[in-house]
This record gives sequence, structure tokens and C-alpha cells, in this order.
Amino acid sequence: MTSPTIESILHEDRLFAPPAEFSEQAQLKNLEAYQALYERAKADPEAFWAELAEQELDWFQPWEQVLDWQPPHARWFVNGKINISYNCLDRHLTTWRRNKAALIWEGEPGDSRTLTYAQLHREVCQFANVMKGLGVKKGDIVGIYMPMIPEAAIAMLACARIGAPHMVVFGGFSAEALRDRLNDGKAKLVITADGGWRKDAIVPLKEQVDRALENNSAPSVENVLVVQRTQQKIAMQPGRDHWWHDLQQGVSANCPAEPLDSEDMLFILYTSGSTGKPKGVVHTTGGYNLYTHVTTKWIFDLRDTDVYWCTADVGWITGHSYIVYGPLSNGATTLMYEGAPRTSNPGCFWDVIEKYGVTIFYTAPTAIRAFIKMGEHLPNARDLSSLRLLGTVGEPINPAAWIWYHRIIGKERCPIVDTWWQTETGGIMITPIPGAIATKPGSATRPFPGILADVVDLDGHPVPEGEGGYLVVRHPWPSMMRTVYGDDDRFRRTYWEHIAPVDGQSLYFAGDGARRDQDGYFWIMGRVDDVISVAGHRLGTMEIESALVSHPAVAEAAVVGKPDEVKGEEVVAFVILEGAFLPSEDLDKALKKHVVAEIGALARPGQIRFTDALPKTRSGKIMRRLLRSLAAGEEISGDTSTLEDRSVLDKLREGA
Ligand code: PRX
Repeated sequence: MTSPTIESILHEDRLFAPPAEFSEQAQLKNLEAYQALYERAKADPEAFWAELAEQELDWFQPWEQVLDWQPPHARWFVNGKINISYNCLDRHLTTWRRNKAALIWEGEPGDSRTLTYAQLHREVCQFANVMKGLGVKKGDIVGIYMPMIPEAAIAMLACARIGAPHMVVFGGFSAEALRDRLNDGKAKLVITADGGWRKDAIVPLKEQVDRALENNSAPSVENVLVVQRTQQKIAMQPGRDHWWHDLQQGVSANCPAEPLDSEDMLFILYTSGSTGKPKGVVHTTGGYNLYTHVTTKWIFDLRDTDVYWCTADVGWITGHSYIVYGPLSNGATTLMYEGAPRTSNPGCFWDVIEKYGVTIFYTAPTAIRAFIKMGEHLPNARDLSSLRLLGTVGEPINPAAWIWYHRIIGKERCPIVDTWWQTETGGIMITPIPGAIATKPGSATRPFPGILADVVDLDGHPVPEGEGGYLVVRHPWPSMMRTVYGDDDRFRRTYWEHIAPVDGQSLYFAGDGARRDQDGYFWIMGRVDDVISVAGHRLGTMEIESALVSHPAVAEAAVVGKPDEVKGEEVVAFVILEGAFLPSEDLDKALKKHVVAEIGALARPGQIRFTDALPKTRSGKIMRRLLRSLAAGEEISGDTSTLEDRSVLDKLREGA
């Protein structure tokens, strides 16, 4: 296990009780209410979830069994029939919400659009019919590579409507990364846009799709649908490429939601792990619908008057669960923003809050740290009085950033929910319930009702209070990942075999270290595997190493994360060159560019350090712990007796 950061060891005693005026009106008003739910769920998780499933969702056909648990495989609401697009749209149309804003979109540069539930429903139905017209059937996988525009959500909901699992690929990934994913999923259709706006520039999405498909290198793809967004010139391949607006013309808006099996696949979403290839995390329909619905409702304490804004991209799980499915299933107004803070408009987030009267704001610690740098005069110059609740996600938040968020954005009135979860968990797992649980800066506090989280050693035994251990979950929950697409064996190995089963019970291992304090609060200490987090983006070090060694100049590479004040971590690559190459600034640039082309700009190394050798154990394993210390400029501490050649360390230090 890697060592925790200094800040996570620091004792943080400040306790912030939920503001009385917030609690009084909250869904869960006090600690007793949370505890009662938690205990009830713990005593009988199946009854707890079944009751909520009946209360909160519309089913076409009831389930026969709540949970079928054959570790590590869970089936929830067995033989129940449901459609998440129905729960997100149709059921609101018979209520006053029919004409409520479902999706508010603020685009760049200065565009905006609002879709009511009735309008969103209409667009989704039409687009579902467009896909059917292209021969897309239930079970066919659809790739979505889009900017943050309403069509991204429309495409997802339309896929869900006809039972075609979507596979959203973040628009910042390269053509190579897109191709790998399309091939892994054998996607039949790709939905994209001519381009997308990113920090005052256009991302050429369609061009990247063309590159991903060139020379028939993703042969499963039959059609490409293109939204016109940025109007720049693109090539359209006859027969394969179609404009969204052309095909949508005159198409019927009648498309009843397909009654799907609760366990039918809803989507695949790729995420990085400790081995080279990203894994396709599989989520299914009924359990995911229920869990994202209930967590959105209680954690964001939704009311019908809220304007809820989650700043994530739909290319990540946060966008899936907490921009699209969770909020819409609840009939909320969800805001989608195409832009990002940038030098030319550093106050744009605060403008959006002021313009729409945002009440709930959910963002990442890396963004908060960037805002701190930009200066508090920016938010102070805007009217943020509509805000009533704040949230964070994606990485540990350092107490200093938490306090700034609390004071400058929340004006000491708004509770902060620091939500811990993962692509794999589908929904938020450890979090304050804002009206009920007092917060401590830097702690995600307590598990959501129904989530039996624990901190254990490798034998699965709970570690004593205050000590670091592995974060695990003991009982299946409705939105847990079902498998790794096409590689069930990897699913078992990665998540279920690290920690020994206790009393025959398998434990889900999250890949994070954590400790629990005297109040039972969880403190997440970060990944214990070779996964790093750069600006909240999860990257596998081995993925970046594979990208580097695919360059002809590179013989061997080792990648580690170096602490960074704003981004959390920065990528540092130690590189051994092939004999014929010499270190140079040009090569440094070329290698960085190569990583961007292979994976995407999010993986660009901040530093490349050329070296003749890497510290290895006698059995040939790279000792990343030592490289991490070197990258951070720390003294090498701890055991180095397994190091094969001790002079390597001196050379690396000299090189720095
Ligand atoms: O290390 C944890 C960190 O992000 C990882 C999951 O990354 P991903 O699947 O990309 O999903 C991110 C958005 C849900 C976790 O294993 N992480 C996420 N939330 C927190 C966090 N670490 C500390 N505190 C959090 N609130």
C-alpha cells in the first residue's frame, strides 16, 4: 500500500453541523433519521431496496426476486421489466412537470437552450426512431463521442429507450483511444459532432472519428451520426456519415419505451486500472436506475424548485449518474454547461450560477483549487445567493480548499457533500446527508444507507480506528458494476480477489486506502494501486507507459504521479531511450505529443526524465515507490534492501 499524503494524516477536528434552516426543510432532517434508515437497510438490505424500488420507480412488470447474489455476480430485481428513459421522461409528462425545464443548456460561445420534459421526451423519441431507421436494435452498442450539448443526453436517453447500450467516450480522448474502445465494445453506430468548444478553441471531434475508423480499423461501425455544432468544414463519407438534423427531419415522435429486463445492459463506460488496457465497466438497468435516483434525491436533497448543476462531462460516470439519469429520474431541472473556466473568462462558472439561479452546485476539488488561484474577487463580484448546497467529487479535498469553498462560495450557509464513489459503483457510496450529518473538512463522512463499507487489512479483518487500511464494501448494492465487458475474469481478479473472503463472504475492493475516525467517519487516502488522478481524471500509469514505449525512441518507461497543488497529481515519466537516441528538448516534446495522440491531452506528462536505468527489485519489478519519492523531490525513506542496483538511485538523483 502506498503511503498516505501528509494532509490526509493531519488530524482535522473542525465539525460543521448542518445549518438549522437547511435541516428543517430537508428530506432527511437529522442524524436520527439517517441512522434509522441506515440500521433498517443494514438489517435487511433487500427489503430496504425493494421498498424504494416500488415507491420511487415505475415498472412495466414487477420483479420475482429482489437479489440473486452469486458472488461476485449480482442480479437485482430479477425478471422485473423497466426502462430508465421512461422513468426519466414519460412518467413526468402526466404531471405538472410536463412543462418544467428538464435540461438547461449553457453553451459556448454564448448559446443557450432550455428543454422542458415534454420537449426532451419528443427529441428523445424522434432520435430513437432515427437510430431504429439505421438498423440499431436492442443489444447493439452505440458509441457516443460528443461535446457537452443537449444531443449528448438525448442520444443516451434514446439508446436507453430502445435497449441499445451506450458507450460514451470522453471528447478529450484521442482517435487511438476512441478506436480501442469502439473495437472492444464492437460498436455499431457512432454519434458525434462536427466539433466541440473547449476553452475558446474547437475540438475536431468528427475528424478524430474519421481517424479512428480509417482503413476499416473499427470494422463493427456501420454508421456515423453527426450533430452540427461548430460549423467548420468536415468530410462526410457517403453511405456511412449522416447529419443528425437531416435524419431527424419529419421522423415520428412516437416511440414507446421498450420494456427491458432489469438486468439488460444500460451502458459500458471505460475506466483505467492498474494494468495496461482500460476496462469496460458494465452497468445494467433497474438497479442503476434505483440507486442513482435515491442517491440524487437524498444527497442533493432535491426539491422541485431547484436548479441543479453538476459540472462534470457526460463522458465520465459523474455525468451519466448525476447530470442525466439521477436528476431526470427525479424530475429535476439539470443544467449542462459546455464551457470551462479559462483565462479569457475565469469567472464563467459564477456567471452561470447567477444567470440561472443555480441552487445546487457539484464540482471537483481540482476546480476549486483552480478557483482559489484565480482569486476570490471573481465569485465575490457575482450574486451567488441562490446556492443552498455544494458538493465535491473525484478526489480527496484538502481541508484548505474545503474551507474556501465553504466561505467564499457557500457563504458559510451551504452544507458541503464530499461524495466518494467510482465508475464501478455507479452511484455515490460514502457522503454526508446534508441535513443530517455534520461535516469535517476532508472527510466523505458516512456510508449511504444500504452501503456496508469498511476498512480492512488484506485478510479482510477491520483495522483499528484511526489506522489506514483497504476500503471495501461487504454487501452488494443495486448499481454495482456487473462485470468488465468481455473479460469477467478480470472483473473477479481486480475487485474480488485482493482481500480474503471473510466467513465465506466476498468483499468488493475499491482500490482506495482509507481510515475511519472515532466518530465512524471515513477519510479516503487515495489509490493504493498504480492509478493516478490528474485534475480528477483517473489514469493508469501502465496505460501511459504503454503509450510511451510504443514510440520508436523509447526502450522502457515508468510513470508515477507527483503531487500538484491544483491538479492533485501531475504525470512524471522516467524514460530509457533506445541506443540510437539521445535526450533532447525536441524528443521531450515529441514524446509528450505522442502520449497525447495515443491517449489524449489529459494524460500529457508534465515532466519527462531521461535516465539510463530504473530502480528494480531483484525479480525485475519497477519500484515505483522510489520513483514517486524522487519525482516529489523527497528523501528516499523506507526499505530499499530489495533494490537490485543501489547506484541507480544516485544516478537518478543526479539526473534531476
Ligand atoms: O480514488 C477515488 C477517487 O476517484 C476514484 C474513482 O474514480 P472514477 O471511477 O473516475 O470516478 C470519479 C467520480 C466518481 C476513487 O477510487 N475519488 C472519487 N471521489 C472521491 C475520491 N477520493 C476521495 N474523495 C472523494 N470524494
